[in-house]
Amino acid sequence: MRWNVHRSVAETKEWLSEEEAGAAKDGRCVWGFALKETGRLIGSGGLILNEDRQMFELGYCIMKEYWNRGLTTGAAQVVIGFAVQRLGAYVFYAHRDKDNAASGRVPEKPGFILLGNIDCQSLDGKRNIQGCEYTPQPGQGRTKAHWLRLQRQPYY
Ligand SMILES: CC(C)(COP(=O)(O)OP(=O)(O)OC[C@H]1O[C@@H](n2cnc3c(N)ncnc32)[C@H](O)[C@@H]1OP(=O)(O)O)[C@@H](O)C(=O)NCCC(=O)NCCS
Repeated sequence: MRWNVHRSVAETKEWLSEEEAGAAKDGRCVWGFALKETGRLIGSGGLILNEDRQMFELGYCIMKEYWNRGLTTGAAQVVIGFAVQRLGAYVFYAHRDKDNAASGRVPEKPGFILLGNIDCQSLDGKRNIQGCEYTPQPGQGRTKAHWLRLQRQPYY
């Protein structure tokens, strides 16, 4: 992950304030993910403009006890739906650490393909990261029709 794991509640509060300020300032779209059944907040994610790639980058994180139930895949489907319908965006980007295969499956399931490997730094510039980049298949995979079709069915 390009961000660092939070070490305290204070750090998480600071991050939440930054996200709120960022949403008002640069229009990033980040949501809390809540379980439909109970409303429990179990994670967060959304889109942020990747300046280098000039694409909306998908990001996500959920509590470990909820991993591998398809929940992030479902959340990504909703986030992409928002981007297509409300932002008119059809080209997306995702990045994962080389060793975080589960994170790569989330964009792979709706048809993103591996763009290549990339050496980059954590957001605080303190760690070197070997990562993999994903983007939808050029052509049909980057059209409104493609995404609208996928919105009508689960990705998995
Ligand atoms: C990455 C993360 C968001 C995935 O969330 P999730 O809700 O478990 O994702 P889903 O259940 O929708 O999909 C997970 C997929 O990864 C697969 N998977 C899980 N562990 C895996 C592993 N070690 N190797 C390969 N695939 C793996 C699952 O089988 C599933 O794929 P499938 O549906 O084809 O079987 C979650 O693990 C997480 O929050 N991790 C910590 C934060 C993080 O890494 N965020 C991403 C930063 S780039």
